[in-house]
Amino acid sequence: MIKLLSRLTGSSLGKKFVMGLTGLALVGFLFVHLAGNTLLFADRDGRAFDRYEQTLTGNPLLPLAELALAGLFALHIVFALRVTAQNRAAKGQNYQTSAKAKTRSLGSTSMIYTGLVVLGFLVIHILDFRVGKLLREDEGYSMAGMVREKLSTPLWAGIYVLGVVALAVHLSHGVRSAFQSLGVSHPNLNPWLVRAGWAVAVLVGVGFLSFPIYFLAQGASR
Ligand code: HEM
Repeated sequence: MIKLLSRLTGSSLGKKFVMGLTGLALVGFLFVHLAGNTLLFADRDGRAFDRYEQTLTGNPLLPLAELALAGLFALHIVFALRVTAQNRAAKGQNYQTSAKAKTRSLGSTSMIYTGLVVLGFLVIHILDFRVGKLLREDEGYSMAGMVREKLSTPLWAGIYVLGVVALAVHLSHGVRSAFQSLGVSHPNLNPWLVRAGWAVAVLVGVGFLSFPIYFLAQGASR
């Protein structure tokens, strides 16, 4: 098992396989997170979202799920950095032909940059809410209230918009690339995988953008 893992992670293809698998699992998390967040729109005082958040917090399996999620993010990020470093080293040796480089889309060349912006956003986001709730001393805090308070200011709404736009651009290429890394590729299928990648990017982008926009508009009308 350990031998298989080290062979898998030692080769460039193996690293991409791990990135693809963890990337798709993270997309699954994004849809679950987005679905949960839509409860923020269920009522004006955030009761539906708070009930949902308290049910999650009270689940004894939550720490395990959070650990698995952190593991997915960590694997995806570490392998992305290693593949990028490896590609840069290969490029230095003229390993990559210029013709190949020219065919790379904006999405593929920007993956590492959009990924780093998303990582920065994620650190801020976890500090805001996940760590933020641990720092709350009042038992009866409202997570919906915390979200509303944060996202109703132009600066924070702007930071969230930037993070989500970077995420959408990342996914517009990442989903298609993940399937390719897993060996899912066929001339008839590939155009559909490209479309699927764009569909995921638009759904996730528009979905998550709706929260800062909604709370900013609410803050402005108060
Ligand atoms: C833009 C709108 C978003 C809103 C309003 C939002 C809201 C929240 C809230 C309220 C929590 C805390 C849940 C809790 O611990 O009780 C949370 C956690 C989290 N969010 Fe978001 N989120 C948004 C976007 C995102 C995006 C785009 C990502 C990924 C790139 C993300 C990843 C996470 C992660 C990893 C956690 C920690 C989960 C856990 O440990 O339980 N969120 N989010």
